[in-house]
Amino acid sequence: MKILSVVGARPQFIKAAMLSKAWAEKDNCEEVLVHTGQHYDSAMSDVFFAEMDIPEPKYHLGVGSGLHGAQTGKMLEEIEKVLLEEKPDWVVIYGDTNSTLSAALAASKLHIPLAHVEAGLRSFNRNMPEEINRLVADQLSAIRFTPTQEATNHLIQEGFDKDSIHQVGDVMYDAVLHFGGGEPKDSILDQIGIDGPFVLATIHRAENTDCASRLRAIITGLQEVHQDVPVVWPIHPRTRKALSEMNLDYQIHISNPVGYLEMLYLERRASLIVTDSGGVQKEAYFNKTPCVTARTETEWVELVEQGWNQLADPTDPGSIPKCVRGALSQDLPDYNTNLYGDGQSAKNMVDILINH
Ligand code: UD1
Ligand code: UDP
Repeated sequence: MKILSVVGARPQFIKAAMLSKAWAEKDNCEEVLVHTGQHYDSAMSDVFFAEMDIPEPKYHLGVGSGLHGAQTGKMLEEIEKVLLEEKPDWVVIYGDTNSTLSAALAASKLHIPLAHVEAGLRSFNRNMPEEINRLVADQLSAIRFTPTQEATNHLIQEGFDKDSIHQVGDVMYDAVLHFGGGEPKDSILDQIGIDGPFVLATIHRAENTDCASRLRAIITGLQEVHQDVPVVWPIHPRTRKALSEMNLDYQIHISNPVGYLEMLYLERRASLIVTDSGGVQKEAYFNKTPCVTARTETEWVELVEQGWNQLADPTDPGSIPKCVRGALSQDLPDYNTNLYGDGQSAKNMVDILINH
């Protein structure tokens, strides 16, 4: 059986790492890994392959950055060539990026069945490119692997065949169990000189970075938090670029993006996390660290319901500090171990595909 997995962006390397390990344990299964090149800086790509021992991709498409249409179009053209050459039994896609969308289009036009990892998530905000990508990916997939009950419910409400939906848990939980717990030798906390409480921040969503007034409000809010507790912010290249185009004065501790192992360490050590990342919202919870999400909605609603996550209005400079102070002054909520499965999500997915 031949599986072709398409990845391209940072969170996809992390999700695919666990499936690659599960495929490697199976006889008579070959996984062909394709890297679209959507993320290409060493700190956004190579570091994950090295730290997580992900096999070298057989194909590196080198597509790089661009407008949505151009980027997706180039990937579509290149993935189609690979599929014609490899003729896989299944194409596996991850999450909600333009790499996901182009692989979904290429495979379905060639009648190759698709399996979507992290199916069924919805923000119900079609201004987000991720929402469009998810809707198309779910629509075109033959197997939909959902991480949560909420995601399963969405697909059922949308009328998908129940037999196509497999609630397997969240593969990012598998990854945290496998890779978490270590302490990096040369942490950025040592470089900055922090050994007490701090707030960890990550911001990269297009709707937050591509609107100057919104980004200014977020920086103003983080700066206010920084007056109380130091804020440490490994910055996504998209956000760094947007900030360099604005003339803002701030003292927050900014660094290059960190590797996955360091990120898990920072998440565990932080008093609180401010983010707009999907993956980091969940990792905050896996590390039992409260989270404030700078968005008007989230796909991971169960964390808001359980009290681990609060939504802060990214257009209001006072909202992030208010939510941070509120969360830091409360006791930690109960930890519900069943929200994201049992840490065997990757193994479950591989078995389901083999037995399909
Ligand atoms: C993409 C995904 C988003 C995901 C995020 C994970 C889409 C539409 N968005 O957003 O869902 O949450 O990845 O991080 O697919 N850049 C670099 N070096 C890199 C990569 C990007 O400098 O290695 C800069 C470029 O200026 C580029 C910009 O970041 O134009 C945005 O990159 P892109 O991959 O288009 O989108 P992300 O914001 O990373
Ligand atoms: N991450 C990382 N280094 C960083 C920031 C994030 O390793 O400097 C990891 C993080 O631990 C999580 C994943 O990247 O596993 C989340 O990716 P991102 O926030 O880019 O995308 P999203 O999850 O929002 O799609």
